[in-house]
Amino acid sequence: MKPTKFSFVAAVTVSAALVALAALYFSPARRQQQRIFTAEELVAYNGTDDALPILLGILGSVFDVTKGKSHYGAGGGYNHFAGRDASRAFVSGNFTGDGLTDSLHGLSSTEVKSIVEWRDFYFKSYMYVGRLVGRYYDKHGNPTKYLKGVEAKAKRGAQLLEKQKKEEAKQPSCNSRWSQDEGGKVWCDEGYPRLVQRPLEIALTGKMSKRCACFRKDQLDNPGLEVYSGCDPLSNTCAV
Ligand code: HEM
Ligand SMILES: *[C@@H]1O[C@H](CO)[C@@H](O)[C@H](O)[C@H]1NC(C)=O
Repeated sequence: MKPTKFSFVAAVTVSAALVALAALYFSPARRQQQRIFTAEELVAYNGTDDALPILLGILGSVFDVTKGKSHYGAGGGYNHFAGRDASRAFVSGNFTGDGLTDSLHGLSSTEVKSIVEWRDFYFKSYMYVGRLVGRYYDKHGNPTKYLKGVEAKAKRGAQLLEKQKKEEAKQPSCNSRWSQDEGGKVWCDEGYPRLVQRPLEIALTGKMSKRCACFRKDQLDNPGLEVYSGCDPLSNTCAV
């Protein structure tokens, strides 16, 4: 093939591709994706009207969840998510009264991260149809400060979790088992079981939490190690 002929073919191919992309860009499907809902409009799509799709808002993104009618339709276990943005209930599990809110006030960074992951789930599993005006998007459909704050907090949560994982990997965890006749026990294949505070837990979840880790003899004077009550300090198995 001569070079001139090749570039002609290439030019036609590129033009065709551009036309196809433009058609996609201005298609009705895309315009529908750009739809901006008010909270009052969204209520109509709560699954009570069989003629309408079922829509759900999370962090101000609106999804068509009609194919999940058994969950989100009238009488479904997750019908409370339909026709509104109840972002907070994705971590609180509180589907009653004021629990059905889009406010994430007071949630920890990992809880916020988990809600962002739910939004990812909807992007993957359902059709995105638009944005909800309010806490997360302004009337032009632009993200609010609140949404940016939520996304930043989720990112911090992810970083903290990663750091916690790395920290905990340095000190091996105890084995543990629970059985009917023996009750609970923890043990170390090497070293001695100690209870330790998870260092990042308060930043992560706002709560204190401990785990069992195994320490060598030369580490037993480290600060913050707690011997299981009723357990010999040099036993490698403790009842819990
Ligand atoms: C914070 C609490 C909870 C929230 C926010 C939640 C949320 C959800 C949502 C939104 C779905 C639908 C996913 C989809 O569109 O496919 C779902 C499905 C499901 N949930 Fe939950 N859930 C919670 C707790 C639970 C608990 C405690 C159980 C079981 C004891 C449970 C069992 C299930 C099952 C079995 C499904 C799948 C049903 C199916 O595919 O037919 N969920 N959950
Ligand atoms: C759910 O949230 C409402 C309002 O914040 C509260 O009054 C109620 O006690 C909560 N219910 C549960 C089960 O946590």
